[in-house]
Amino acid sequence: MKLNLGCGNKIYDGYVNVDKFDIYNVDIKHDLEKFPYPFEDDSVEEIILSHVLEHIGQDPDIFIKILKEFYRVCKNEALIKIAVPHPRHDDFLSDPTHVRPVTVLGLSLFDKSLNEKWEKSGAANTPLALIHNVNFKVENVNYQIEADIIKQYESGEIDKSKLDNMIKRNNNVVKQIDIEWRVIK
Ligand SMILES: C[S@@+](CC[C@H](N)C(=O)[O-])C[C@H]1O[C@@H](n2cnc3c(N)ncnc32)[C@H](O)[C@@H]1O
Repeated sequence: MKLNLGCGNKIYDGYVNVDKFDIYNVDIKHDLEKFPYPFEDDSVEEIILSHVLEHIGQDPDIFIKILKEFYRVCKNEALIKIAVPHPRHDDFLSDPTHVRPVTVLGLSLFDKSLNEKWEKSGAANTPLALIHNVNFKVENVNYQIEADIIKQYESGEIDKSKLDNMIKRNNNVVKQIDIEWRVIK
C-alpha cells in the first residue's frame, strides 16, 4: 500500500489519499494528529508528504507520535517522500498554519546510527531514534533554489562555495527541500 498523506487536491492513482478535510473527495478522512492511523503494522511501502510535515505536530510530543505512527505502519525499507518549504523562505514564514520548521538535520535526529555516532563523539544532538525506538535514514536531499540565484550561479557571478554559504545563511535562497527518508526496521 502507498499513502499520500495530507493530499489536499493532489489525488493520486495507486495511493490511498488521506486528508483531515474532505473537500477534494479523499479516500480516507483522517486527522494525522489523531492516533492510531487506520492502517495495519508493516503495511505501507511508500508515503508521500508533500507540504504537510510543516503543518502538523506543533506540540513536540504529538510530532514524535506522528513519526512513531509512520514507523509503525511502514514496512522495512519503506520510502517516505517529503517536500517542505525551506524554513528561511518567506513561503514558510507566511502561512499561519505552518507550525514547525523541517530541516535535514532535524530529521537526522531520528537516525539510530547517527545517534550512536554523535553519542561517541560527545555531540549534544538529542538521540531521538534511540529514545523513541524508531529508525529513519535521510537518503537523498534536493534543494530547489530560487531561479534568480541559479541564474547568478550558472553565469559564474557566484561560485559553488558562495552558493553553499548563501544556502546556509541567507533568506529566500532555497524555496523547497525534497527529502527521501528511508524506514529501517
Ligand atoms: C499545503 S497543503 C498540501 C496539499 C498537497 N499535499 C500538495 O502538495 O499540494 C497541506 C495539506 O495538509 C492537510 N493537513 C493539515 N493538517 C492535517 C492533519 N492534521 N491531518 C491531515 N491532513 C492535514 C491540509 O488539509 C492540506 O490539504
